[in-house]
Amino acid sequence: MLKKTIQPQDYAPGSKLDVLPGKDPEVRITLKRVPVVEENGKMIPVCEPTLKGNELKYLKECVETNWISSTGRKIIAFEEAFAKKVGAKYGVSCTNGTTALHLALYVAGVVPGDEVILPTFTMIATPNVVTHLGATPVLVDADPYTYTMDVGKIEGKITKKTKAIVPVDIYGHPCDMDPILEIADKHGLAVIEDAAEAHGAEYRGRKIGSISDASTFSFYANKIITTGEGGMITTDSREFYEKARNIRDHAFSEDRHFWHKYVGFNYRMTNLQAAVGLAQVERFEELVGARIRNAALYNSLLNDIPGLRLPPEAEGVKNVFWMYGLMIEDEFGMSRDELRKQLADRGIETRTFFIPIHLQPVYHKLFSNESFPVAESLCARGLYLPSSSGLGENEIRYICGAIHDIREGARL
Ligand SMILES: Cc1ncc(COP(=O)(O)O)c(C=O)c1O
Repeated sequence: MLKKTIQPQDYAPGSKLDVLPGKDPEVRITLKRVPVVEENGKMIPVCEPTLKGNELKYLKECVETNWISSTGRKIIAFEEAFAKKVGAKYGVSCTNGTTALHLALYVAGVVPGDEVILPTFTMIATPNVVTHLGATPVLVDADPYTYTMDVGKIEGKITKKTKAIVPVDIYGHPCDMDPILEIADKHGLAVIEDAAEAHGAEYRGRKIGSISDASTFSFYANKIITTGEGGMITTDSREFYEKARNIRDHAFSEDRHFWHKYVGFNYRMTNLQAAVGLAQVERFEELVGARIRNAALYNSLLNDIPGLRLPPEAEGVKNVFWMYGLMIEDEFGMSRDELRKQLADRGIETRTFFIPIHLQPVYHKLFSNESFPVAESLCARGLYLPSSSGLGENEIRYICGAIHDIREGARL
């Protein structure tokens, strides 16, 4: 039985309460019968950073030279290096992925009263920045195969108030960008891509980060490239870049200090964060490649289990598998939540897929007359397995062995 975490009265009539995940199971830390877990003296977390390059060296340089704030060489170096890796001309670092998206939409001209089209199957930061700008999020259901925005459903949502489309590259899988750009072009809309989860991904030979008017990335500790907290806007537009840099820093005027022509933000990254980021970018291919290798090993060890839908990779795209997501179908023989519990008992942490935006207590009233069946099915059945770039082959084998055992147990 799926546990209900929110009371029925919190929802508009007709909402699908039964798709909500149950409470997160407690993950066991010490399990004598699990050698791989004992070896590490801990559970296998869903994600952890690997800081094994020049991170400490560059941080030490910042401390030793006193450059710890938001001016410093590491910031420019990190912006240039990251933008280059994602095929963009310019990078504007920010305090996190949320502020990067907020700033990008502000620079794109989103103002109160506008509408912004985005997927319901995303993380809460995507609609929240739209709301903070005084605009209204307009939701589109997920594509049943890629889990990204269903491009066939975008045009029906465009009104006179629509200002921008925000495609989200879910779990590292790029959106179908060509039709999105075509629709945006036809209707004169900005495309600001939320690429928080998709460092290194590609769409039809083009790098994610270089396709949209602007793209935004997160460098939170679970991201493929991390700075602890951090984010970046990438763009090919000099004008967008200059405006974003200026607004990020209180919109100080160049001609006179303490002179402000725009309402700015302070979304500046520190030299300390950029030091970590620079060291991470030096290992860009290694860190992205590890995610892809992990996914290939998981696929090979899980593809014979009935009732498991493995993560997608549409033709012509490079999915970087930020998180290795599975859909648990009826044929598996037990619910997603029961599988999570049994994996937790074996020291394996998992996460459920996102709870769609239209089901969130803070947003559901706006969408009570609409239906988003694909996102709800993803919410009811999806989980992701440990996905760190530093995950060992023995750990993946252990996790897959556990899933095989659990399914066998379910059939007895
Ligand atoms: C799709 C998406 N957008 C935005 C964000 C926000 O990024 P941050 O946590 O760095 O603010 C995240 C974070 O996980 C995300 O997954």
